Amino acid sequence: MRTKKRSQAQWLIVILLLFANLSWGITPTEKKTKDIVKSMTLEQKVQLVIGTGMYFPMPDSIKEKMPPMFGGGPREDNAYNRMVDKIRMYLPGTAGVTAEFPELEITSQALADGPAGLRITPIREGDEQTYYCTAFPIATVLASSWDTELVEKVGQTMGNEVLEYGAEVLLAPGMNIQRDPLCGRNFEYYSEDPLVTGKMAAAMVKGIQSNGVGTSIKHFAVNNQETNRMSVNTIVSERALREIYLKGFEIAVKEAKPWTVMSSYNKLNGTYTSESHDLLTKILRNDWGFDGYVMTDWGGGSDVAIQMIAGNDMIQPGSPQQIEELIASVKSGKLDESILDKNVERILNIMIESPRYKAYNFSSKPNLKLHAQVTRQAATDGMVLLENKNNALPLSTKVKKVATFGATSLDIVSGGTGSGDVNEAYTISMFDGLKNNGLTPDSELAGIYEEHIKAEKEKGNKSDNPLVAFMGGKVPVEEMAVSKELAEIMAEKNDVALITIGRNSGEGGDRKAEKGDFYLTDVEKEMITTVTEAFNKKGKMAIVILNIGGVVETASWSSVPDAVLCAWQPGQEAGNSIVDVLTGKVNPSGKLAITFPKSYCDAPSAKTFPGYSIKGEEDDADDLSGFSFMRRVPWEVVYEEDIYVGYRYYNTFDVPVAYEFGYGLSYTDFEFSNLKLNSDKFDGKISVSVTVKNTGKVAGREVVQVYVSAPDGKLEKPEAELTAFGKTALLAPGKSETLTFDIDAMDLASFNEANSDWLVEAGDYTMKVGASSTDIKSKDSFTVEKGIVAGTVSKALAPEVEINKLTK
Ligand code: BGC
Repeated sequence: MRTKKRSQAQWLIVILLLFANLSWGITPTEKKTKDIVKSMTLEQKVQLVIGTGMYFPMPDSIKEKMPPMFGGGPREDNAYNRMVDKIRMYLPGTAGVTAEFPELEITSQALADGPAGLRITPIREGDEQTYYCTAFPIATVLASSWDTELVEKVGQTMGNEVLEYGAEVLLAPGMNIQRDPLCGRNFEYYSEDPLVTGKMAAAMVKGIQSNGVGTSIKHFAVNNQETNRMSVNTIVSERALREIYLKGFEIAVKEAKPWTVMSSYNKLNGTYTSESHDLLTKILRNDWGFDGYVMTDWGGGSDVAIQMIAGNDMIQPGSPQQIEELIASVKSGKLDESILDKNVERILNIMIESPRYKAYNFSSKPNLKLHAQVTRQAATDGMVLLENKNNALPLSTKVKKVATFGATSLDIVSGGTGSGDVNEAYTISMFDGLKNNGLTPDSELAGIYEEHIKAEKEKGNKSDNPLVAFMGGKVPVEEMAVSKELAEIMAEKNDVALITIGRNSGEGGDRKAEKGDFYLTDVEKEMITTVTEAFNKKGKMAIVILNIGGVVETASWSSVPDAVLCAWQPGQEAGNSIVDVLTGKVNPSGKLAITFPKSYCDAPSAKTFPGYSIKGEEDDADDLSGFSFMRRVPWEVVYEEDIYVGYRYYNTFDVPVAYEFGYGLSYTDFEFSNLKLNSDKFDGKISVSVTVKNTGKVAGREVVQVYVSAPDGKLEKPEAELTAFGKTALLAPGKSETLTFDIDAMDLASFNEANSDWLVEAGDYTMKVGASSTDIKSKDSFTVEKGIVAGTVSKALAPEVEINKLTK
């Protein structure tokens, strides 16, 4: 009896305590972190919010030239530096590490890249074990799957490597809008459309974080180019911001609660994003409810005190100078210490959730074999079949001998360069993929290409600067001219030709609207024609495989070969994944999440990309000598196309394209029927359902895309906008599936700058369900009788100048 009474009393205390905490709006974690903050000195707080620098193994001659945040310059032997040296060894190759203070129970956080998988140093001095990670398909592949379940599974797998190698936060996903086909980092991003971007990123965050590790969605925001990325001032309207450039981030924050956000390098309407209170506090925290911490991109912004005030809680990679600067800011009163306390608190709230704080005993041995199977499958689901004359694909079972043309058939590009690259143990080339799957690639032809690749690589850059390797290591060599004679010899002895066209790009530079990049070179086009002619003459086929990270021009040559498969940069199982699709082991179900324009000039951003120099302002070229891509060149870009990004532009202004947004072929056919709206009036919600039937001969999956055409009211609207999407299960021939989508007011709303609210205007709307943005299979209409305000948000980020906006 006594015991029972005591336990009741204890319960009462617990409930009272909880009640007390709740009534003060404080959770036990927050109380804990507040207590830690109280016990910290100013120096410790500053040393926590400023990262501990970045470390590259490098020769002394180069070290001297490096700025301190990248490990250059002299270093004192003191307690802080000894701590830094110790924590850097926890996970070699990680991009950023936060300080530890064991006496205060503050553990270090390893922040490691990146979007296609964990990026760490694979080999450690004096250690026999290797630390390779899985190179997953690039984000563009994942988005082309239109399959959020798949992306979540990839995230779970990627996150397991983060956990098992001992990192706390993966610096991913990258989720900037693919505004222009030439952005050098488009491969790290998902789509030209914010809904696809947001849903993919949310799925990725959920998957990664299901492991008890964090993510950093990046680069927040409007980082849509690499040209002068450190200083470009991007000028964009509030409406385009809210509807296009911020929307994906909003979806990811609200649906998946990422632990952290990475602000971007650029300025947005005049202010560095990392110094923008409007962006990081008003929008991210107040409007969207983000409760994690914000870190800078590496070296981003300029004033650490302003960054703290804006709500940018952590500076990466951080330097001793920045520590001094921030301490001085508090002492001078420029930065109120209570603001710094809040920044520290947010970092500690996340730390308490992290594996190192929980003393997780990581194995450094993730199951890489199992993860290779995940990446192999994921890549096949995102490949897009662009052309397939007379059902050239899948390859007939009679096909055994294969001639592989194109240097990237052997030297395949698994992913992009820079921080989005992964140190994987191997990459399966197309040549090996064929061998692994029972086909016989022509070894004589492979030998010719091997010699060509070797000779071309020998001509290449032999700099010992570690950053050259970091940024540029994996660019395909110039293509070899294929003579008619060689093509004919190969056509004689092989059953089919595969012609690979490869491209690569990465951070620090944009691509060019030139031959060899956006356009194919004459040698490449001649290779396609010569090989196709030689093989067709023998009644055999030639198939082009695009091994690319971003869009290339296709309209001038795509009708030549028998089929074109866009394999993108499919990760380390590249060759196996491609062969799975070519042979029909997997029926392609990928659809483009970015438009392929006919020519670069057709892109709505082509007129303004990548901006212009601002005369009269000084270039700080000396600031980061040796890092051309880190220079701050006074630069500006105005987003004149406004909301008309990607298909919103092409479809509204009737600009013909090579392949439209949402396009992709299958080895089977689908029929859409029975489109049903649950009402013909919209009162805040509406449901649409549609039945998809596989009417062809092989099993397959179809992406169902729901677009809405809204009436022009106060605000003009694009021809139609993607409002929902889904993917069927694998449907056997004759089988069907009904998909239902619930659409609410926010899904239909446009941003009304005048009142900072989201408006659904009155009028007649059309719901269009289709297999691409222009291949609409079925439609129905509904009415909004009275305008609806779906939400009101902060007035923020208004541009200071008038924008010459594109209108209908
Ligand atoms: C990139 C980020 C990356 C960081 C750390 C920066 O240069 O823009 O995406 O996460 O470096 O490597």
